[in-house]
Amino acid sequence: MVAFDPAASRKRFPFFSRRSECVYLDNAATTQRLGDAIDRLVEFYFSENSNVHRGAHALGEGATLAYESARHCVAAYLNARNAEEIIFTGGTTDALNTIAVGLNGEIHAGDEILITALEHHSNILPWAALAKRRDAKLNIAGLTPTGELDMEDFAQKFSQRTRIVAVAHVSNVLGTINPIKHVIELARSVGALTVIDGAQWLPSGPVDVQAINCDFYAFSAHKIFGPMGVGVLFGRREILEKLAPFRLGGGMVQKITAKKSIFRELPDRLEGGTPNVAGVVALPSVIEFLQSIDWDQYRAHERKIRSIIKKGVEEIPGLRLLGTAHEKVGIYAFTHPTVHAHDLASMLACQNICVRAGNHCAQLLLPYFQISQSLRASFSLYNTAAEASALMETLAKCVRQLS
Ligand code: ALA
Repeated sequence: MVAFDPAASRKRFPFFSRRSECVYLDNAATTQRLGDAIDRLVEFYFSENSNVHRGAHALGEGATLAYESARHCVAAYLNARNAEEIIFTGGTTDALNTIAVGLNGEIHAGDEILITALEHHSNILPWAALAKRRDAKLNIAGLTPTGELDMEDFAQKFSQRTRIVAVAHVSNVLGTINPIKHVIELARSVGALTVIDGAQWLPSGPVDVQAINCDFYAFSAHKIFGPMGVGVLFGRREILEKLAPFRLGGGMVQKITAKKSIFRELPDRLEGGTPNVAGVVALPSVIEFLQSIDWDQYRAHERKIRSIIKKGVEEIPGLRLLGTAHEKVGIYAFTHPTVHAHDLASMLACQNICVRAGNHCAQLLLPYFQISQSLRASFSLYNTAAEASALMETLAKCVRQLS
């Protein structure tokens, strides 16, 4: 097998030719942008700029065509049944809020919503708010010491009243890949709707929404090398049709009278207001790039990085790696008993190594590791084994100096 070459990917990202000194390991927060996606976005603004679904002029028609063709491209990548199952949003958070607000009328007093302790706040808060609005119960499945979903606890948290199961495909702190097919099967067995937060998986591999059989799948363009401010919500058509529109405004109405509003069909009814047209139009470039990746080769590259991290951790006294699941992507969270994560992050930044410190918007998992913060390094398609070694060597020096 030909080895995955991160240097070849790196060439496609103009950021690295301008900031060659930067060891960018904060990809779970946002990735760098693909050159082709930047070019497409700029070209749209330079010579194609117009609103969609409105203008009776060639520019408007061109923008609408490019926007709708991006929808078809995303639908094909996710293996959705049709393009109307793809809703463009402002990001994953926006997509998850769209679902939680849209399902308001489907949830009743005493119903239950099940999430897990490794969710990002954006896959907790909309469900907590929905549960509160409808007098429903929010259940939270626990984790194992390796940072995996405790499947026994998860199965026990189901009941005949479970209406929604919302789970991350990949943890944004631990990198754990959840067994979502199994999760979805369990949810289906009690007739619950399934919502998968795919924000941290899509940068590491493709998804087939029909094969996993989910009802909803959400992700952000900025975490897959595309523009900020664009997200995708896949939804099974018959369920999207039931969602009450969250964003009420222009472009989603068929008829309004003083007494009644009739909304348009999918996907327009869930895309009120002017969308981020340029950002959406840039998405096919990203998808073309993702399709060019040999993911099996990338998995082997991830394993190489993982062994460097593991060895580095063993050599640094006191350093602990959180989340040691067998199935995980290149997201690594570290803690130290005496050195604060923010101090480590600042020292690494002085050496041009960009990482994130804090609770990473995932506070429900903190008690499982008895921590309040961690240092997170997240790798992507352009990160090399040499960068992993540089991280661990610099971390060793920082810990020596600070402890
Ligand atoms: N959700 C992003 C992160 O985990 C911002 O850093």
